[in-house]
Amino acid sequence: MSFRTVWANQVDLSLAGSEVTIAGWVQRRRDHGGLIFVDIRDRSGIVQVVVEPQSPVFSFLDSLRAEYVVSISGTVQKRPEGMVNHEIGSGEVEIVPTQVKVLSQSKTPPFMPQEAESVDELVRLKYRYVDLRRPGLFNNFVLRDKVIYSLRTFFHEQGFLEVETPALARSTPEGARDFLVPSRVQPGAFYALPQSPQIFKQLLMVAGFERYYQIAKVFRDEDLRADRQPEFTQIDVEMSFLEREDILCLMEMMMKRVFSDGVGVMLEDFPRMSWEQALRQYGSDKPDLRAGEPLVDLTEAARQLGWDVVAKAPHVVGVVCRRYQPSRKQLDQWNQFAKDHGASGLVWLIMTEDGIRTSASKWLSPDELSRIAETGGMCSGDTLFMVAGAKPLAFVVAGQMRLEFARQENRLESGWKFLWVTEFPLFEWSEDENRLVSAHHPFTMPMAEDVHLLSSNPLTVRSEAYDVVLNGIELASGSLRIYQPEVQEKIFSVLGLSHDEINEKFGFLIQAFQYGAPPHGGIAFGLDRLIMLMAGAKSLRDVIAFPKTARGTDPLMEAPAPVDPRQLDELGIQMKPQS
Ligand code: AMO
Repeated sequence: MSFRTVWANQVDLSLAGSEVTIAGWVQRRRDHGGLIFVDIRDRSGIVQVVVEPQSPVFSFLDSLRAEYVVSISGTVQKRPEGMVNHEIGSGEVEIVPTQVKVLSQSKTPPFMPQEAESVDELVRLKYRYVDLRRPGLFNNFVLRDKVIYSLRTFFHEQGFLEVETPALARSTPEGARDFLVPSRVQPGAFYALPQSPQIFKQLLMVAGFERYYQIAKVFRDEDLRADRQPEFTQIDVEMSFLEREDILCLMEMMMKRVFSDGVGVMLEDFPRMSWEQALRQYGSDKPDLRAGEPLVDLTEAARQLGWDVVAKAPHVVGVVCRRYQPSRKQLDQWNQFAKDHGASGLVWLIMTEDGIRTSASKWLSPDELSRIAETGGMCSGDTLFMVAGAKPLAFVVAGQMRLEFARQENRLESGWKFLWVTEFPLFEWSEDENRLVSAHHPFTMPMAEDVHLLSSNPLTVRSEAYDVVLNGIELASGSLRIYQPEVQEKIFSVLGLSHDEINEKFGFLIQAFQYGAPPHGGIAFGLDRLIMLMAGAKSLRDVIAFPKTARGTDPLMEAPAPVDPRQLDELGIQMKPQS
């Protein structure tokens, strides 16, 4: 007898009267007036088995316990009227068994898979194999597989080659901390696990591969959040001889294909926005277009006011909250929210049928208030919040308020709001390091029109970098790359790297560029983030089979863990006493 002739979800009325064999786990066993009902679960779904006391296999079925692994043969029969279960695919039928085989017993599980959602996450991760039995979680992996299949088909059709790059590499400058791997044969030397295949993919362009992609596992030792894991997967892409437009167009095609194949959604064209525009209109480099209208720039209107706090502020930014009449308590909370995010205060205007109420009644005349309300595009019933301050703070705080308002009031639109953000600044000022750092990475091409500002005003130089944002989350980042050695050296020197440092860190790349580098560019999408969003999951942990906790641990394997002192000895490593 084979273990299985049909999947649980294939057992339906069309099989009534036939003999079938199913295999799976015991989800539930119920006793009902002498009859025993057992739900058997396999990865496709659930099917009910029912047995009467007279049946020769009654005692076998009666002995089954939760999560036993069984193979059951029997006859499919239509369920009696009133017993149909519309929640499962096989709900119109049940199986009357003729043979029951217990393939494996199970201890009482720490929790039932179907009840796992209410169980502490640490426990679920420790028994991940039980947790993964719940269909909600399993289906995320079905989607993940579908998406990867769709991606590979797309890339193959478009002439891309999948090339694997090393996991034992050298530290690359992506900005996070490296995971280091000590070398046994070169004592004192370390590999770094790649934070991305960035340098390798550029070397493949120099090698003439022209179109590369990789579903690449990468590693970053950074503080974790719901949308960050220490090891994650990138859809990593690089192309030669293409303009920025061609790259954006191809990648947009790819996303459209994946959404159509994965979740049957036809995406619209992605809007475009420069980084500057994103900051001014949404107070963020990853605008969430589901959260309603953009911010309003009230700076010019404020200049005309007789109240210096706003009239002399470098920027005054407004958030219009439609059909919103906050209470006194809510206004206090908004004030606190603005302060918590760094603003010195908040001005509010509430427009009612009887006129405008405001926190600035002492300083602004009714005429002035009407002008502000008009510039803000307010209608009766709306509230306007104004944040005054420097750039970017005033925009960022207003942007946060816009988002918070949409969340609190349940105004986030549904759907997939993609956009491209382009023209990022090339450099940022790092307060921690007290120096310029690359906003993306040091191989990003400056925009041709800004190159002349590299020495005189580097912070105003824009780059050929672009991001894909989906529903307010950064999904992908990429750029055109520098392929002329002299431009690359210039960037390194603006970053304050000495010749020796440049040679020591990137000598091999600069050298490679001297042997015929084509114009090239690329991008990397966070695959886990993509699946998380497509699946409607809350955390990356729901789309990674064996994820790490927020503290970077794996409770199942108990990793990381101490190692045998002999292993350390071989590596020439001695632990410092823990202080
Ligand atoms: P970047 O560092 O922006 O770019 O990463 C690309 C995308 O990877 C995802 N991502 C993460 N996902 C889960 N956990 C993390 N800790 C994490 N960090 C990043 C994000 C992000 O947009 N080499 C460049 C790409 C290029 O220029 O081609 C790079 O790695 O979705």
